[in-house]
Amino acid sequence: MAERPASAPAVPRHVAIVMDGNGRWAKKRHMPRFFGHKQGVDALVRTVHACADRGIEYLTVFAFSSENWKRPSEEVSSLMGLVLVAVSKYLAKLAGDGVRVRIVGDRAQVSDKLRQAWQHAEDSTRHNTKIHLSVAFNYGGRWDIVQACRQAMVAGVKPEDLDEATLNSYMALSYAPDPDLFIRTGGEVRISNFLLWQAAYSELVFTECLWPEFGTEELDSALAQYARRERRFGAVPAAAELVASGS
Ligand code: IPE
Ligand code: IPE
Ligand code: MG
Repeated sequence: MAERPASAPAVPRHVAIVMDGNGRWAKKRHMPRFFGHKQGVDALVRTVHACADRGIEYLTVFAFSSENWKRPSEEVSSLMGLVLVAVSKYLAKLAGDGVRVRIVGDRAQVSDKLRQAWQHAEDSTRHNTKIHLSVAFNYGGRWDIVQACRQAMVAGVKPEDLDEATLNSYMALSYAPDPDLFIRTGGEVRISNFLLWQAAYSELVFTECLWPEFGTEELDSALAQYARRERRFGAVPAAAELVASGS
């Protein structure tokens, strides 16, 4: 594999994770799926701290997709309840550790209680700068593109003035650089409508590890894979450049 060019930092600024495999993790233990989701929250909190310790500035995680409403209503409502429990159990510690929390996704469909919990999480971490945690909840990459277009239209952006940077300024993650590293746990090799716009040039790492088992070893393995990649963004490989310049 080609060497990483000196210009590409070894530690990604922004890591995005599809936290998949909670249900299968619980099933393997003959436990209800909810148990897997509950352990998944603990895995998330561990991962936030591990990323902060490694100097990662942005962590964006997929917690509930626009399509997850298709699940049985008991699972959906238990996931909503779990969010409330997670906020009350972990928010103070995350806030104290310098984590800035934001929620990205369509808030219109969730309960008032959940909206208030999100607002509280965002307000009480507003001044934190150690790491930006974005929780994608009721989020879909297609939803994001459509809502950004709508906002641009409402703002009166003319078609001839709409370029990639302008549209990006209306996207849910406009405050963050594009993800450098995109990890999916749980063994499936697909994007499942996560950051369709933002992941255009992300390095992809898929692992069989089920999300509740995700820990520093798995994170460091993904970071090591990332560090070995050569990011080209459409340009020629660094090795070809050396040949062309005769050096
Ligand atoms: C990911 O785990 C969490 C959510 C989608 C809420 P899953 O619940 O999809 O777990 P598996 O893929 O069925 O094992
Ligand atoms: C993606 O996982 C969504 C989240 C992890 C929140 P899914 O389990 O919903 O994805 P599919 O259905 O296997 O593609
Ligand atoms: Mg799944």
